[in-house]
Amino acid sequence: MSYLLKPIQAGPLQLANRLVMPPMATAKADPDGKASQAVIDYYAEKSHGGYLSLIIIEHSYINAEGKASSNQLSIADDSMVKPLHALSEVIHRNGSRTAMQLNHAGSAARKEITGTTPVAPSAVMNPRQGDMPRELTRKEIAGVIEDFHNAARRVKEAGFDGVEIHSAHGYLLNQFFSPLTNRRSDKYGGNVHNRIRIHLEVIEAVRAAVGENFPILLRLGASDFTPGGTTIEDSQIAAREFENAGINILDISGGFSGYNVPGLTGQGYFSPLTEALKKFVTIPVILTGGITEAQAAEKLLADGKADLIGVGRAILKDSSWAQQAVESLR
Ligand SMILES: Cc1cc2nc3c(=O)[nH]c(=O)nc-3n(C[C@H](O)[C@H](O)[C@H](O)COP(=O)(O)O)c2cc1C
Repeated sequence: MSYLLKPIQAGPLQLANRLVMPPMATAKADPDGKASQAVIDYYAEKSHGGYLSLIIIEHSYINAEGKASSNQLSIADDSMVKPLHALSEVIHRNGSRTAMQLNHAGSAARKEITGTTPVAPSAVMNPRQGDMPRELTRKEIAGVIEDFHNAARRVKEAGFDGVEIHSAHGYLLNQFFSPLTNRRSDKYGGNVHNRIRIHLEVIEAVRAAVGENFPILLRLGASDFTPGGTTIEDSQIAAREFENAGINILDISGGFSGYNVPGLTGQGYFSPLTEALKKFVTIPVILTGGITEAQAAEKLLADGKADLIGVGRAILKDSSWAQQAVESLR
């Protein structure tokens, strides 16, 4: 049996096989963030035939300050639940499981989109995008954690099979994790344990919202690949803490300003990160980045570099990619 098609037990999530569509922003939501018919049609097309085991819906903002871009999906209030329910249903009818990614853009938010000054761990410009942010107060951090809690509750109410916390690509939780953007001197800044304090509090709040038998994934930017930024050693400590806090699947990416890192190329270009992290955790680890060939995915799994494989742009370009990959392996 092929590795890519082999079932995996991921905490409470029994995946049919190991092929994941990672979150990819479509900019197809209504202006107020509701899942439009265009969003539903897009995921209906991508999930057609049920060849993907898990589809992680694109980053969705948990509150208005955390909105990253126009026509981004929202999970910021209860009116979002009904159209999202239609989205999870269409994916289920096609035979795949689906999770939703929760995000706060932090300093990557822009005033022209949100109408307000961006917030961040510290008043440091985001190298990715955004306006000069102001530092979050302790009370506001508690508010962000509560917004993650409520967003996760809505994801479950909308019929999804899991929820993903976004801490990659230079958004708010990545900003707390990274010394490039976290200059705080309180308990949320300093050593790696302090820089992931907010993550642990978010995980606890999300778990309280969804209960024990609901998978929580965390997308970790596992190295900034920038002098003075996070390193794989930081991420090994963080990953172990996240597993202990109840994360069911670790979804790995890297690079502070996106998922591309100059000089890193090839099928599964973050595999040195997933391989290094797998030594520190027992939960399944997803590897995404540069994978376009089913045989390459098979080899990465066979070599023990990861437990699940994410394929983004190849599926974005060709909705029949998963079918062709699965059939080529049968
Ligand atoms: C158009 C586009 C939108 C993306 N949006 C998100 C997102 O919402 N959340 C996220 O974690 N990653 C996002 N990513 C990164 C992808 O999930 C993935 O990590 C990246 O494309 C590398 O994998 P690939 O080489 O298979 O495409 C996006 C990528 C693209 C191309």
